[in-house]
Amino acid sequence: MHIAVASYKGGVGKTTTAVHVAAYLNTLAPTLLLDGDRTRNATEWSERGEGFPFTVADIASAMKLAGKFKHSVVDTGQQPTEKDLKALAEGCDLLIIPAVPLALDTGGLRQTIEALHRMNQTRYRVLITKAPPPPETEAQQLKAMLDELKVPVFKTTIPRLKAFSKASASGCVVIQADDPRADRAWEAYKAVGKEIVTYARSQQKNA
Ligand SMILES: Nc1ncnc2c1ncn2[C@@H]1O[C@H](COP(=O)(O)OP(=O)(O)OP(=O)(O)O)[C@@H](O)[C@H]1O
Ligand SMILES: [Mg+2]
Repeated sequence: MHIAVASYKGGVGKTTTAVHVAAYLNTLAPTLLLDGDRTRNATEWSERGEGFPFTVADIASAMKLAGKFKHSVVDTGQQPTEKDLKALAEGCDLLIIPAVPLALDTGGLRQTIEALHRMNQTRYRVLITKAPPPPETEAQQLKAMLDELKVPVFKTTIPRLKAFSKASASGCVVIQADDPRADRAWEAYKAVGKEIVTYARSQQKNA
């Protein structure tokens, strides 16, 4: 399965999502995380600690490495052009668009969704990340708005937790982070991973 993570907006959790989706898929079969961001955030993250339990490589190595792995996840950089987005969407089984719970127009989300719509792309799903804890309701509000617009959204929402930045700072995946909520943080991406697998199965059936 080939997954891409992209968004017009920076800082929305693309790299965090790519790392943890790769970590989940790697529990099922060998997985390659391709770092397609010029700033090499995922690579640097993996180098700060003992390394990830899966392979991280520069996107330039994709051709050489791709055949060795069952799954691949591509992390991408900020501000892709519409052509970049089109190539990514067409080259993967599922494009994940992380979005923070802000109004649709402030986060570049509407722009991303409209661009995909123009390309007749349907193989994408929005993932709401950094959801504040209750009683805040921004995440549910964004989800309800996207549902109403018939934009595909993951059922799982990723909570805003310090465990994620701790994991990045210490160069590990979140399950290994020294934080009381590390388990909760990992469970959220595990649930996303399961949704991805279910999605892939449904696509295969329809093919
Ligand atoms: N669910 C979360 N809860 C709290 N902090 C988070 C969460 N997800 C990501 N972060 C933090 O937010 C910051 C941005 O996350 P990340 O680097 O994954 O975003 P990005 O979209 O890849 O950014 P860029 O556009 O710069 O590549 C990082 O400090 C990261 O640790
Ligand atoms: Mg990034």
